Amino acid sequence: METRTANETFRPPDWWEIPSHEGPDYYEALRRLHAMLRPATYFEIGSETGGSLILAGCASLAVDQAFRLNCNVAHDPRKLLGGPVELAFLDGMHNYEYLLRDFINTERVCRPESVIVLHDCLPTDAHVARREGGDQHLRAFSAHPEWWAGDVWKTAAILRRARPDLAMHAFGVPPTGLVLVTGLNPASYVLARDYDAHVAAFASSGPEVFREHVAALRPLGFAEFDAVVEGLARRAQ
Ligand SMILES: C[S@@+](CC[C@H](N)C(=O)[O-])C[C@H]1O[C@@H](n2cnc3c(N)ncnc32)[C@H](O)[C@@H]1O
Repeated sequence: METRTANETFRPPDWWEIPSHEGPDYYEALRRLHAMLRPATYFEIGSETGGSLILAGCASLAVDQAFRLNCNVAHDPRKLLGGPVELAFLDGMHNYEYLLRDFINTERVCRPESVIVLHDCLPTDAHVARREGGDQHLRAFSAHPEWWAGDVWKTAAILRRARPDLAMHAFGVPPTGLVLVTGLNPASYVLARDYDAHVAAFASSGPEVFREHVAALRPLGFAEFDAVVEGLARRAQ
């Protein structure tokens, strides 16, 4: 029987990839967001060891189903939730129906000028974007066999289609991109109302939908990051 390997030109039908993101990573992007936006409140879903949470210098609230903190991220609890969330980083469960719910619930406690940051929505290939972390059927074709972004890119695609009122700025920062969402409407109910339909519509979306998603998001490089965030900061004042 013929055996195919990753360095041959053969690619499975469900394969896709985009160029690896280059430049400073998402931690540096988050650091700059905090420095430029200077949010009074920060909310995070998915903290793990605290690598992103430690970057917040303001009153912060973090959610995780299994904290494994290895740094001191305790903030003054007296300051907690003294106002709406101004900056949020959503990096919890890596399946799109979870992130969509996280977005819906987070938007409700933001103000219009707040910024919600979505992690992992620009995965570099079909293996990195596999739905189940344990699924290894495309591993041999990936330049990043250890990475798992999950299929949360579908959440950004749903937001783009279902919420044209939102402003979305995508950045190809390593390893798997950041999408900044603003122009929020805490009173909006359309995502919650149509949640099941959105989840069903994207259940089997493959490479064509991903390509259309990336083309529509038009991700910028790190060089444009500061200018975009400064614009958001001016609007937030
Ligand atoms: C990629 S890690 C977060 C990394 C962290 N944000 C950073 O950048 O250093 C994802 C985290 O999401 C958490 N998680 C998974 N499912 C979750 C859920 N349903 N709700 C909240 N957190 C969840 C996991 O326990 C894990 O700690």
